[in-house]
Amino acid sequence: MNVVITGANRGLGLGFVQHYLTLGHEVWACYRSDLAGLATIQSDKLHTIALDVSQDFDADGLGFPNSIDLLINNAGIYGPYKNGQSLDKITSEAMLDVFNVDCLGPLRVVQQLRKQVIKAKGTIANLSSKMGSSEDNTSGGAYAYRAAKAALVIVSKSMAVDLEPLGVEVITLHPGWVTTDMTHQTGLIDVATSVAGMTNVIANVDQYDLGAFVAFDGQVVPF
Ligand SMILES: NC(=O)c1ccc[n+]([C@@H]2O[C@H](COP(=O)([O-])OP(=O)(O)OC[C@H]3O[C@@H](n4cnc5c(N)ncnc54)[C@H](OP(=O)(O)O)[C@@H]3O)[C@@H](O)[C@H]2O)c1
Repeated sequence: MNVVITGANRGLGLGFVQHYLTLGHEVWACYRSDLAGLATIQSDKLHTIALDVSQDFDADGLGFPNSIDLLINNAGIYGPYKNGQSLDKITSEAMLDVFNVDCLGPLRVVQQLRKQVIKAKGTIANLSSKMGSSEDNTSGGAYAYRAAKAALVIVSKSMAVDLEPLGVEVITLHPGWVTTDMTHQTGLIDVATSVAGMTNVIANVDQYDLGAFVAFDGQVVPF
């Protein structure tokens, strides 16, 4: 299987890389500017591509495979931490920055790579967050992150509808609350647990409704 993963140099992205390499798949690991954890992996099945999803790009000539069985849009940012996204403090700049990476990023990547995914009749997995679920929002705040991840759920659903006739399945994922840099190493589960769960959901994508939003433990997330 040919697997492409964005934001793959650390955190969950790196966990996805390790998971699919262990299974013997070919992995194209995209990193923004720093190879970080990818530099320590010795595998002839690992291919690295510099890709900043915050900017428009042309995938031709970057080294992506002609056929992609699984595309994981993992790259993301939280934006200002803690009270930095309160009603008092959130800024237009922060709202737009997070939206650009977390919502437009996956859209850019799918626009550029959809032909290769269609060729393989593959799967696209977009990493959102339960924080993008309106029903789950009981604590308010986090304006930029919640809005961007909510928008990604809707964008991902449109991708699912548009690409289904072409044989491509699209799923939106919630990784759980995971111990990574994004959560400042807090969290309820580790990367391996989250990745094991999400890859199991991906492997069983047929069992879910079109464009479903699913957590790492297989539970459908209402949005
Ligand atoms: N951790 C959680 O509890 C949790 C919960 C819900 C959803 N998620 C989502 O899961 C995904 C992975 O999160 P994580 O916890 O692994 O976060 P992380 O440790 O902060 O890693 C984020 C990754 O995204 C990359 N990235 C950021 N901006 C980028 C850009 N403009 N272009 C390309 N890559 C970029 C980072 O690259 P650099 O190293 O270059 O910055 C890094 O590889 C994110 O979409 C996040 O929103 C995480």
